[in-house]
Amino acid sequence: MSPSLLVTRRLPTSVEARLAESYDVTLNPSDVPLSSAELADAMQRFDALMPTVSDRLDASILGSQKRQVTIVANVGVGFSNIDVAVARELGITVSNTPDVLTDATADIALLLLLSSTRGATAAERKLREGRWDGFSLVDGLGMSVQGKVLGIVGMGRIGRATARRASLALGMSVVFFNRSPVTGLDFEATQLESLDQLLALADVVSVHVPGGGEAPIIGAKELAAMKPTAHLINTARGDSVDQDALIQALATKSIAGAGLDVFLDEPNVPDTLRALDNVTLLPHVGSATQEVRTAMGMLAADNLDAFFAGNELPSPV
Ligand code: DGY
Repeated sequence: MSPSLLVTRRLPTSVEARLAESYDVTLNPSDVPLSSAELADAMQRFDALMPTVSDRLDASILGSQKRQVTIVANVGVGFSNIDVAVARELGITVSNTPDVLTDATADIALLLLLSSTRGATAAERKLREGRWDGFSLVDGLGMSVQGKVLGIVGMGRIGRATARRASLALGMSVVFFNRSPVTGLDFEATQLESLDQLLALADVVSVHVPGGGEAPIIGAKELAAMKPTAHLINTARGDSVDQDALIQALATKSIAGAGLDVFLDEPNVPDTLRALDNVTLLPHVGSATQEVRTAMGMLAADNLDAFFAGNELPSPV
């Protein structure tokens, strides 16, 4: 008998078709996120779960009485939606989908970097709202990025890919903060000893840490340490930045701008943030290409296949 599998959200058709061949699969054609009660119920009714960032699998859900799920194959590189420590204690295997989304997410970081530094959101609003009076030599001037300093916070796969693009394609000078030493980069970049050093130097700060930490790595103190001309980019997780402190910093112009693809309580984005002109907001689309979402689904399926065949997983957490 095929293992039973619940896929919590819609995936590209080719992924769903592959899963249907090997599993007794339940899909979610409506694509409406499951409630906590539905997730807890699923823990008791399926052998495997394929969730994603919108499914919060905390201790109470993972520890459901009469649990049947033995593997959670997350579609996403980030897994702060899953209490991995509890899963480990309970003997539930967890996997994720690294690598396949690195380039796409770094592309979005660059898009936000350019959008923020060139004031694209304010400019587009002006045009769409019929407020553009014509070409001007002095209105709406942004900041050139060539020769400016990009500070990468967290030099993992996506941090490196972002830094590489900024260095080689945009001519930015890269500094980074990472807890462990980083070697073997194929572009110029300087590792700094502290986040404070980075914040003092950077013209653009780009966050690439996993999230799920006890406190945001960029809080009010860190925002205050940034240059007033600097921009903050976040394509990682909403809880890596103190959102209220960021809104305050943008509203008072204590930093120049921001580009965000992730938020504290998705899909809720505060009106106070949406009203600001000096921030570009994207609805968590870092990995949203046909190719990448297909590759993510296929990698999650590879993890499931390996697990049920008793083989080593390609990407265990
Ligand atoms: C990831 O893979 O972590 C992206 O944020 C989408 O979930």
